[in-house]
Order: sequence, then structure tokens, then C-alpha cells
Amino acid sequence: MYGMVNRGIEQMVVLHHGVEVWERIKREAGVDVEMFISNEAYADEMTFQLVAAASSVLGAPQDALLRAFGEHWVLRTAEEGYGGLMSAGGSSLPEFLLNLPNFHTRVVMVFPNLQPPRFACTDVGPNSLHLHYRTHRAGLTHFVVGLIQGLGKRFGTEATATVLESKAEGADHDLFLVEWKSPVA
Ligand code: HEM
Repeated sequence: MYGMVNRGIEQMVVLHHGVEVWERIKREAGVDVEMFISNEAYADEMTFQLVAAASSVLGAPQDALLRAFGEHWVLRTAEEGYGGLMSAGGSSLPEFLLNLPNFHTRVVMVFPNLQPPRFACTDVGPNSLHLHYRTHRAGLTHFVVGLIQGLGKRFGTEATATVLESKAEGADHDLFLVEWKSPVA
């Protein structure tokens, strides 16, 4: 994955735990990279090793870390680096979710070798929808849950994502029920 992802993890860890803890996590992960470069590609494995090492050093389950990272990604990493792209995604949670299937086609202009996730929306109601998530990568289900929570916060809309079906348990792809309350005026 592009270095932007590892940089995002670094930013989140350093923010909450400081730079020494981050150095310890990198050592434990066996990652010998002083500084990640956003638009350079790194092995996916490196990202997963960093998450696993963060889990053991911080004593937090990987799923919880991935959810926290999803929120951080939306609220800080993507917003600070690519705020314009985020704004173009929509001005409310449901609008953003409905635009999500096309979102990474714009991101490809910045990261040409992106291997993006694929999203689809079905069963769209006034306060819920089904979000289908397809990827060749394993283990990112809870990252998506965190991304949706982060989007809820971005738009001041209480939102939940419930995993209805997961690829890890034999389904074709991950399926989430996303529910939201209308924002308080
Ligand atoms: C401007 C904002 C964003 C940028 C620049 C961006 C960029 C990226 C990059 C560089 C990757 C790594 C993939 C690779 O290197 O092949 C990635 C992965 C991913 N992105 Fe985004 N992204 C943005 C916003 C979002 C949003 C809003 C969502 C969903 C709500 C999202 C969902 C994901 C997921 C789930 C992955 C993991 C890859 C996979 O599933 O295989 N991203 N994105």
C-alpha cells in the first residue's frame, strides 16, 4: 500500500503515545524504514505487521486499533492531506456513502498504482443502507467500520456500521448495515 497508509498509522500512534512507542512498534514489526513516503508503494505485509506490533506493544486488540485508525484516517490523514478530495465526496453522510463507489477513481489521479477498495450501496432507506465492500486484501473489515464512524463524526451524524456478512466467515464479500440519525439542526 502507498506510504500514506503507514504514515497515517504513525501519526495516530505518535499523537496518542509519543514517538518512542512508535519506534518500539516499528522495531517489533521488523520494519526498518525511517520515514514513509506518501506516494511510494510499500508491501501490504508491512502495514499488517505494523498493526500486529502496535496491538502487542499497546495491549489493544487489532480490531479496535483498526477501527481507531479508520476514524483517524477520515478525520485527520485524508482531511489534512487531501481535504479537497474529501469535500468533493459529499456534504452529508448519506451523500458521501452513495458517492463512495466512485470515490477512489479520483484518488487514482493522485496515486496511479492504487489497488482501491470497491464499494456498492443497496437497500437505501431514509436512515440506513447496505454497504458492500470488496477487496483482495484480508483483515480490513474493522478499518471500514472505523471509516464509517469517522464519516459520521465528520458530518455530525451519529452513525453505526454493523457487520452483516464477512468474507473472513465465508461470505463472498463484507456487507455492512450502516444506520444514521439525522443531524441535530
Ligand atoms: C482523500 C481521501 C482518501 C485518499 C487519498 C485515500 C487513499 C487511499 C490509499 C493510498 C489507499 C491504499 C491502497 C493502495 O495503496 O493500494 C487506500 C485504501 C483504502 N481506502 Fe482510501 N483514501 C481516501 C479516503 C477513503 C474513504 C473516505 C474511504 C471509505 C470510507 C476509504 C476506504 C479505503 C479502504 C477500505 C482501503 C483499504 C484497501 C482495501 O480495501 O483493499 N478511503 N485509500
